[in-house]
Amino acid sequence: MTKNDLTAQTTAKEQEADSLNSSDSATQTSADAATVPAVKATQVHKAFGSLHVLKGIDMTVMSGTVTVILGPSGSGKSTFLRLINQLETLTGGSIEVDGELIGYKHVNHGGKAELQTLNDKEIARQREKLGMVFQRFNLFPHRTVLENVMEAPVHVAKVPKDKAKEEAMKELERVGMADRADYYPMQLSGGQQQRVAIARALAMNPKIMLFDEPTSALDPELVGEVLGVMRSLADAGMTMIVVTHEIGFAREVADQIVFMDGGVVVEHGGPEIIDNPQEPRFKDFLSHVL
Ligand SMILES: Nc1ncnc2c1ncn2[C@@H]1O[C@H](COP(=O)(O)OP(=O)(O)OP(=O)(O)O)[C@@H](O)[C@H]1O
Ligand SMILES: [Mg+2]
Repeated sequence: MTKNDLTAQTTAKEQEADSLNSSDSATQTSADAATVPAVKATQVHKAFGSLHVLKGIDMTVMSGTVTVILGPSGSGKSTFLRLINQLETLTGGSIEVDGELIGYKHVNHGGKAELQTLNDKEIARQREKLGMVFQRFNLFPHRTVLENVMEAPVHVAKVPKDKAKEEAMKELERVGMADRADYYPMQLSGGQQQRVAIARALAMNPKIMLFDEPTSALDPELVGEVLGVMRSLADAGMTMIVVTHEIGFAREVADQIVFMDGGVVVEHGGPEIIDNPQEPRFKDFLSHVL
């Protein structure tokens, strides 16, 4: 192979990367890990048939920070989180998690740079970096709290049972639920179940936690305990992306606020934008939720 061939290859690869994600090649060669975003979304599009839900979302989430996504119903917040966690596939654009393109990899196919879809195993490995907590707690009803938290470490990560138990108890302590380890989900309040769901996600040692309206199915008096756990996670340095309508939490805990409407980011900035919104749509939204 001549030097020229190599140059041509690099250029082809760069062009490919360029058309897919303008910053991908730059991120891959970055020497300083601290500058690699935990999540970087570039011109993310998602359509369900003819319904174009996300229309070019750009978002950068740095490691150790909390991003709160606000927006009216149907604006595409859940879809965006589901894309990050590869529960949906992209229609266009790209997402990098921890500096790594998700869902695809660059391959050299006979001297030609191509994008190849990852196989299930590779996708599973990427998804291990993420923990997700949903509005509904999704605990296994026939398993105890402890068994729920141990489930993925034992059956997915193949952690020996005694070690998984020890770590599960640590996570349960972290969310204040260690004393309920032998209860069944039915025997717990919604807030307690959600705290167990958070412990369950943490048990896989994710680098990034995604929360999709984790408190909106809860009775108002139970919201605080779940937000308290989330706040302590943030204080401990966890990278978090949180979809919520809890404006107080957003104001106090978020490093970055992103307001989405109609599948686009309408306004983003530090938490101060909550008290000083610029865009009429964001102002209007806040006037309804505050
Ligand atoms: N699997 C799907 N198939 C078809 N349409 C979908 C699918 N998932 C979401 N949608 C549509 O995409 C749009 C955005 O949905 P999404 O759940 O992302 O909104 P959201 O901002 O999370 O809203 P909410 O605040 O109500 O949770 C909606 O119109 C929804 O009906
Ligand atoms: Mg949603």
